[in-house]
Amino acid sequence: MKPTEYNSHNDGEETRRQLMYIDRLTDHVTTLTNELGRSPRACVVTFGCQMNARDSEKLLGILISAGYEETDSEQEADLVLYNTCSVRDNANQRVYGRLGTLKGYKKDKPHLKVVLCGCMMQEETCVEKIRTSYSFVDLVFGTHNIFKFAELMCSAFESSGRMIVDIWEETDQIVEELPVRRKYGYKSGVNIMFGCNNFCTYCIVPYVRGRERSRAPEEIICEIGQLAKNGVIEVMLLGQNVNSYGTNLDHPMTFAGLLKEVEKIDGIRRIRFMTSHPKDLSDELIETCAASDKICRHLHLPVQTGSNRLLKAMNRNYTREHYLNLVDKIRTAMPDISITTDLIMGFPGETMEDVDDTIDLIRHVQYDNAYTFEYSKRTGTPAASMEGQLSPEDMQAHFDEVLSVVQECARTSAARHTGEVQEALIESVNDHDESLVTGRLGNNLLVHLPGDASMIGTILPVKLRECKGFYFLGDVVK
Ligand code: SAH
Ligand code: SF4
Ligand code: F3S
Repeated sequence: MKPTEYNSHNDGEETRRQLMYIDRLTDHVTTLTNELGRSPRACVVTFGCQMNARDSEKLLGILISAGYEETDSEQEADLVLYNTCSVRDNANQRVYGRLGTLKGYKKDKPHLKVVLCGCMMQEETCVEKIRTSYSFVDLVFGTHNIFKFAELMCSAFESSGRMIVDIWEETDQIVEELPVRRKYGYKSGVNIMFGCNNFCTYCIVPYVRGRERSRAPEEIICEIGQLAKNGVIEVMLLGQNVNSYGTNLDHPMTFAGLLKEVEKIDGIRRIRFMTSHPKDLSDELIETCAASDKICRHLHLPVQTGSNRLLKAMNRNYTREHYLNLVDKIRTAMPDISITTDLIMGFPGETMEDVDDTIDLIRHVQYDNAYTFEYSKRTGTPAASMEGQLSPEDMQAHFDEVLSVVQECARTSAARHTGEVQEALIESVNDHDESLVTGRLGNNLLVHLPGDASMIGTILPVKLRECKGFYFLGDVVK
């Protein structure tokens, strides 16, 4: 049984209201249980980033508190919730495709509740499309009011089949004290801030997640302390740009300052964070990471492109020279650090010269890994109306060029570690071979080693016997 826990560091008015709604929802679920002759099952499907993954844990926490059981099967579920992402168009299309299938399930099972939330729902055109083409959906809400989920679910139960839609344009409320069902017992994401102020010209996140808001450090520390008491040994601090953490607090605090506080928490053995914007990464942060035993030697530092012209058009606010200089400083302070990145290929106006600049930068940095994305046009962003949108063929050609270099770099970087002994946090039993478990190294690479489920959640020294491209085979060192 995975833990459902309450973050009870703040007993706000809104929290109390929502806890009342959880009781009311429990009554609805009890009625449904009696009708079905068993507990109803909820299937929560998450698209997109770590932020959404964390939000889904909160949504599932509320459902389980009210009496739902968790299931992975949409077909067997009595409630299906899609927590959506709109960062690229293919994420949107996947949701529409799956909704088509759900329509059939709902015909056979009229009591099935279909719930949509997350970033896509903050786009007016998506909500319009759902109203007109997917009218069987029961509940739609956005990113700013997920704390109201219990209340909205009650409305869905009490609406006689009418679709409930509640989308907020913005919020300054942070309501965090509701039940959470964590996916893993030993590690957890922790929101340290919400929203984004950077407005990179290709990106929809600032429009769907709103302006940047930091959580108070004492709330974050309290939540992590509670997690540690419940057996969590690794935390991932989450924000769209963690390097600007704290600037809008009543008592401003730097991200490095926050990290130093998190380090002091007993029981926490590994600290990760995501994402770092290169324009705001400070010397203080580099020093703090270098001096720490707990902060993992892994930095995800999205560069997007190696072309100065395109960096400007993307509104990234740094140059390739600034970025390379930053990487030098980081590697000097922490020679063993793994650096990963995000790359967008096919931004409007991208030429082969720009692609060469990107390839040159990748080779300079020698990334340990990179997520490569084809540029996806997002309505309402400045880049969507820029001239020079690429044809799908050119987009693909640019993408393929870069991907092969990324893979070559990642293989070379991983191979360097062969023969080393590193600490691995054992995360799961291998899906394909039950005699193996999978562990994550501090640098975020995976290792498969002989073992069993009793090792999950422990940190063990592992000899990296053989490199298989992007992962290792290894053995515990006795
Ligand atoms: N806040 C983080 C990342 C947020 S989105 C940051 O600034 O790094 C994750 C990644 O999706 C981005 O780094 C970018 O590479 C990619 N992305 C965002 N918008 C995109 C778009 N319109 N098309 C393709 N990729 C995009
Ligand atoms: Fe998007 Fe840029 Fe904000 Fe990241 S920093 S979420 S890429 S606008
Ligand atoms: Fe997607 Fe929203 Fe995250 S758009 S990447 S789920 S912030």
